[in-house]
Amino acid sequence: MTTDALLPDAARLRATMVAALKEGAWIRSPWVEAAFARVPRERFAPEAPLAAAYSAQDAVVTKRGQDGRATSSISAPWLQANMLEAADLRPGAKVLEIGSGGYNAALLAEIVGPDGLVVTVDIDSFVTERAARFLAETGYAHVKVVLGDAEHAADEHTPQGGFDAIIVTVGVYDVPWGHLLAPGGRMIVPLRFSTISRSFTFVRDGDHFLGLNPTVCGFVPVQGAGKLPDQEPVLANGAVRLTLENGSPLDVAGLEQALAGDRTELWTGVTAGRGEPFDSMHLWIATVDDRFGMFWQDPDRDCGIPRPAMRWYCPMLITRDSFAYLTIRTPRNGEAAEQRWEFGTCGYGRAGAELAHRLYDHVQTWDRHWRDHPLPTFTLHSADAAPPAPAVGRIFRKRLTQLVMTWH
Ligand SMILES: C[S@@+](CC[C@H](N)C(=O)[O-])C[C@H]1O[C@@H](n2cnc3c(N)ncnc32)[C@H](O)[C@@H]1O
Repeated sequence: MTTDALLPDAARLRATMVAALKEGAWIRSPWVEAAFARVPRERFAPEAPLAAAYSAQDAVVTKRGQDGRATSSISAPWLQANMLEAADLRPGAKVLEIGSGGYNAALLAEIVGPDGLVVTVDIDSFVTERAARFLAETGYAHVKVVLGDAEHAADEHTPQGGFDAIIVTVGVYDVPWGHLLAPGGRMIVPLRFSTISRSFTFVRDGDHFLGLNPTVCGFVPVQGAGKLPDQEPVLANGAVRLTLENGSPLDVAGLEQALAGDRTELWTGVTAGRGEPFDSMHLWIATVDDRFGMFWQDPDRDCGIPRPAMRWYCPMLITRDSFAYLTIRTPRNGEAAEQRWEFGTCGYGRAGAELAHRLYDHVQTWDRHWRDHPLPTFTLHSADAAPPAPAVGRIFRKRLTQLVMTWH
């Protein structure tokens, strides 16, 4: 019998999870590895079967809202590892976590050690109560758990000189924490702009921040003062959901009627191999079109429409009563037909044909000029600054900040 076989189930699953995180290069440093190897994740997710608690790829949902959607979770290990590595913490560091659960705070406490400081803030007392309890039970009672809206709740718990790192573990529309950061500190923030969500590592550069390593991610949306309700009409008895950030009001009945009517279907000739990332397409379309949004269709329900190009984060253009989304098919011709997928566009409603053509043009332009380009760069400025407008790019204006996306 090997030593591994003698380990209790949780320890064995933990070791397997750590190995997977290292293999995926989500864990890159010995201190993050040591933290994952030590903290018993299952103790922070008692509702989940052991195997689910230790899946490297999956979050454990711990609370849902009335609409059934998650409002709190223990984030997926790959994402936690990636954010912890991005924070580049050392023993003695002072860290603020926005959005609690307990597990990630315990990982942070392991990394910063007894001379460090971990403050974790959550708006929901259900979350803070259980996080505090689990942290105490597992030996991390020194983590400071704060109940409140993170928009301001961390201010009075900020150490002199500021936090060395701020890790935001909830999807936010804005960044109200820059003033809490120590000089040279880092903020890891899953930031929404035009329905796109990227986790940025923000580092100070003079009067603004550079937004480094934009990583595709999904988080439960922020509640409280920073909440920005999306327009999110649900069609076809819940089988289809359209998401638009800002924009003029949508006509839900008109959109429902549009979905039931004729469609315009166009095929672009632009293809992608299986597993080939094409998320720069989203950034390009959001650069040139403020009607950009996301389309979702329940994969378990057939509503007689061509399949969306992606299960999550499928690009779409939308107006009041019409929309067009990105679809995909295996091309009929072509040398490696079975290996590549072709993008198409599918428009519904009065302006559906026009939107399908616009989306088609955006896909073509992206493929011809931007697909093989480096990703755009990002900077974050305060709302009252006057950053130069990029020659090719877009400024996303928020309540407190402005995110500048520049293609070079
Ligand atoms: C994904 S969970 C946090 C996961 C956690 N960091 C972990 O250990 O994996 C996101 C949390 O953000 C919280 N939240 C949402 N809006 C908030 C706000 N304005 N201030 C503080 N917490 C908020 C939710 O209640 C939820 O518990």
